[in-house]
Amino acid sequence: MLKVGIDIGGTKIAGGVVDEHGRILEKLRVDTPADTANLADAVGDMVRHFAAAHDIKAVGVAAAGFIDRDRAIVIHAPNIAWRNEPLKASLESRIDMPVFIENDANAAGWAEFRFGAGRDVSHMVMLTMGTGVGGAIVIDGELFRGGHGIGAELGHTRFVRDGLLCGCGQNGCLEKYASGRALQREANSIADQHEIGSALAAIRAEKGTISGPAISRLVLAGDAGATEALRRVATALGEACGGFQAVLDPELFVIGGGVAQLGDNLLAPVKRAYETSLPGYGDRPVAEFAIAKLVNDAGLIGAADLALAEG
Ligand code: BGC
Ligand code: NA
Ligand code: ZN
Repeated sequence: MLKVGIDIGGTKIAGGVVDEHGRILEKLRVDTPADTANLADAVGDMVRHFAAAHDIKAVGVAAAGFIDRDRAIVIHAPNIAWRNEPLKASLESRIDMPVFIENDANAAGWAEFRFGAGRDVSHMVMLTMGTGVGGAIVIDGELFRGGHGIGAELGHTRFVRDGLLCGCGQNGCLEKYASGRALQREANSIADQHEIGSALAAIRAEKGTISGPAISRLVLAGDAGATEALRRVATALGEACGGFQAVLDPELFVIGGGVAQLGDNLLAPVKRAYETSLPGYGDRPVAEFAIAKLVNDAGLIGAADLALAEG
């Protein structure tokens, strides 16, 4: 059975026709319109394009926010202007097919569990390090949604008391310390302090702000400042994983999102911090850590796979 998966990101909407093995048969990308009606139109156009060439049964949409139990409404989105946005209804008025809205990290985590890095485990946690920090929890082979559909928001667990203000209205959330944006903030501040010899300062002087890809390039080139910025966010993430292990005891943590493209450069400091914060470390079984395998396609593949599924 073929379904369409759509991943609505802050800058791009990615869509694909996905089969029951998680394979993408056709794929499209467009810029994300700022206005919500235009955004729904863009998704509608994409689905119609796919439906003209394939026999599509349903549409799954991954969106970065708290999705209600009925997988219909974006209740709250910390980094997008959605507040109780009836996304399912607005898309179904444009598309003649059932639409299921999913949290973007849940969709990505589910895809990794079914078809990617988590295929061999039954208890898995995924964290995505992008604009925000997303979470997905698979327990005994099932995606955990919580009592209102909005569980597994691991990025909004308090990490620092009286910490930085978060888009969710609280302060000190993990996402303020372990996201791609946090990596940029750390890089900018390292550049401004001039304490570490680094090419970051020159980029800061020339461009004003330092982009994620620029930081990645410098990490791969062994730059001390970029490496220190990465160490800080990796440490935050790893320490939080020690706490998540205490609660959920997963066999595997999968790390995705833009920052995860740094591979072992990211995983090594994450694991060190995890070990320093894990209760009973040394005596107990520990989790494995892996980088997401499906990279940018995880969200749309997972959203398609979950469309029409129970629960
Ligand atoms: C949102 C999550 C989302 C994550 C990644 C967080 O700020 O609360 O719903 O999964 O960002 O996009
Ligand atoms: Na989630
Ligand atoms: Zn928050």
